[in-house]
Amino acid sequence: MSISIPHENVAETDGATRNASAGGEPTGGVSRRSFLATGVAIGAGATLGPLERAKAAFGAPSSETLTSGDAAILRFRAAAEILESDLWQQYNELGGIQDSEVPGGSGSRRYTKALEELDEDMPQYIHDNTQDELSHFAFINAYLESRGAEPVNLDKFRELPSSKATGAQQIGRLTNLMELTVDTSWWTRYRSSTKNPDFGDKFAPAVPDLANGSFPAIPRSDDDLKPKKHIQAIANTAGFHFGTIEQGGTSNYPQLAQRVTDLEVLRVMLSFGGVETMHFQTWQDKAGNAPALTDPTNGLTFPNLKESSDEELKANLIMPEPTVFLRNSLPIVSIVRPTNTEGIAMGVVEFLTAMGLFKGQSKGFFDALKQLASEADAAKPRG
Ligand SMILES: [Fe+2]
Repeated sequence: MSISIPHENVAETDGATRNASAGGEPTGGVSRRSFLATGVAIGAGATLGPLERAKAAFGAPSSETLTSGDAAILRFRAAAEILESDLWQQYNELGGIQDSEVPGGSGSRRYTKALEELDEDMPQYIHDNTQDELSHFAFINAYLESRGAEPVNLDKFRELPSSKATGAQQIGRLTNLMELTVDTSWWTRYRSSTKNPDFGDKFAPAVPDLANGSFPAIPRSDDDLKPKKHIQAIANTAGFHFGTIEQGGTSNYPQLAQRVTDLEVLRVMLSFGGVETMHFQTWQDKAGNAPALTDPTNGLTFPNLKESSDEELKANLIMPEPTVFLRNSLPIVSIVRPTNTEGIAMGVVEFLTAMGLFKGQSKGFFDALKQLASEADAAKPRG
């Protein structure tokens, strides 16, 4: 059974609250259910039709209707949060804590043990990150509806296979964690005092091998559970992948926030972005504990970052180093980086695609995701 929060359940929960406070079913001749049925047409854009129908259903005054740009930005983030939830769910099934908050799966003992080499609380952190992402997408979709805009539903693209390892649910997935090419350049990007990606600067990866080849971040089957260094390399890959995903959210919310027009939508962007940063900082710290080793099955090598003499690699330098920001004439400063906003939604799609996260996905999936991204990127910047 899928643990993803089904689109309709989210809406029903939201609708129950709304109905209780409003004292009954929405009026206006458009049922929530029939509106929601149209809401699955992702990428249809903030066309007047659905917005008008939503206003009729919910009685929202026009001043409370989102601009098409704000709605497109929120819809892109809803899609990103759905994708994050899908990948985190796979991690939780095998290496987290399976409970009523994040149900599904039954754990893989050897994989979990290997993750615990990075920190004994890894299963708890994986569980909590998963729960956070599930709440993020459920909230954004409910929020979109509450403001008369279409929610996002990617359920029809849940067609990728699950891991065959004991502990994983056998359900369709949106993301592929078994053939990843992980860019770990964020590690040196946040340790540099002279460079900023917004100035076009490039950064060396912490684990060069992860950027050259494709590697599983979860056991693909029980055959991956040994030898010990192999399953540890898989857990190490996950450890760095966690940081790679969450540094993306750390940048993406401030990037998109610069182009929203509504104060409450800005509040959503800022409040969510900070949590992605909290995730990133946790994972950056844990990745530094990944045991140095070489996987005997494929040669994937994790360097010893703990004892690195290079300041841009040293594991404990996890606080962002002050660096250049906006203009070279200004003093260096400790900041999230990058925060450029132009074309960034499509940039995220390209980044995740290059990572191998969508290997095996259909053309329809890529088309839908790119449409959501191009609509978000068309939203006008402030000022
Ligand atoms: Fe999130």
